Amino acid sequence: MNRSVDESCSDIEKSSAAFWDKLLSEEDQGRTRTNEEIVNFYDKWARDRCIDKAIEAKGYPALDVMQSTVEELFPADVRDHVTILDVGTCTGNSGQRLYQMGFPNIDGLEPSLGSLRLAEERGVYRKLYNLALTAEPLDILPDTYDMVVLLGVMGPGHISVDAFTEMIRLVKPGGYILNLTRADFLEKCQEYTRKWKPTIERHKSAGKWRQLKEQRYSDHFDNREGRLHLFQIC
Ligand SMILES: C[S@@+](CC[C@H](N)C(=O)[O-])C[C@H]1O[C@@H](n2cnc3c(N)ncnc32)[C@H](O)[C@@H]1O
Repeated sequence: MNRSVDESCSDIEKSSAAFWDKLLSEEDQGRTRTNEEIVNFYDKWARDRCIDKAIEAKGYPALDVMQSTVEELFPADVRDHVTILDVGTCTGNSGQRLYQMGFPNIDGLEPSLGSLRLAEERGVYRKLYNLALTAEPLDILPDTYDMVVLLGVMGPGHISVDAFTEMIRLVKPGGYILNLTRADFLEKCQEYTRKWKPTIERHKSAGKWRQLKEQRYSDHFDNREGRLHLFQIC
């Protein structure tokens, strides 16, 4: 294994963005982490609750951006009936915020078992799936969800753009896919620089979705600029 990156908890607590900056610079040198390696990092960090310690120390501005976007989509009086899939649940910060906003029907999907156990402790999820999302169909009926949320799930070695195919299958017509991540992840990781635009366009021209929003925000996490994309399923 490449040891150029210090993957210990203390490193991520002290300087979380710097950890990911190092993985991005590896991408510049043509080395992309596998999804398995990335999930192993999260599993290791879960043992010491690294992610939650970093969020406690630094805050998580992207949660507020997610909240204000979702508030516009679903007025408070319909939230009881809305079903959400929180892809890349991790330790459950995204799901907890949605739950606090009045959404009681949130399922989570997360490949790191250690992280998923911490998410479960929050008691805000209806169901949790210990799985990675890919283009392969899951054992979940089509048109199950009103919204799929991905908060910080697109990054080096993280979810593939190909997984949008499965998200589209899972979301009801008229429902939404909301993606928020660090801007430089989309702009520098080969997975996204090569496949993002053609994939978005392919689903558009096939009449699968339309893009409702694309915006930048100043701070996703740890002073790194964020990008938000909102799609509506046709
Ligand atoms: C930065 S964390 C984001 C966590 C959470 N959404 C939040 O905002 O607190 C990214 C998560 O994506 C998960 N992940 C990576 N690849 C994935 C995949 N293919 N499918 C689903 N989740 C994935 C990781 O295991 C990790 O827990």
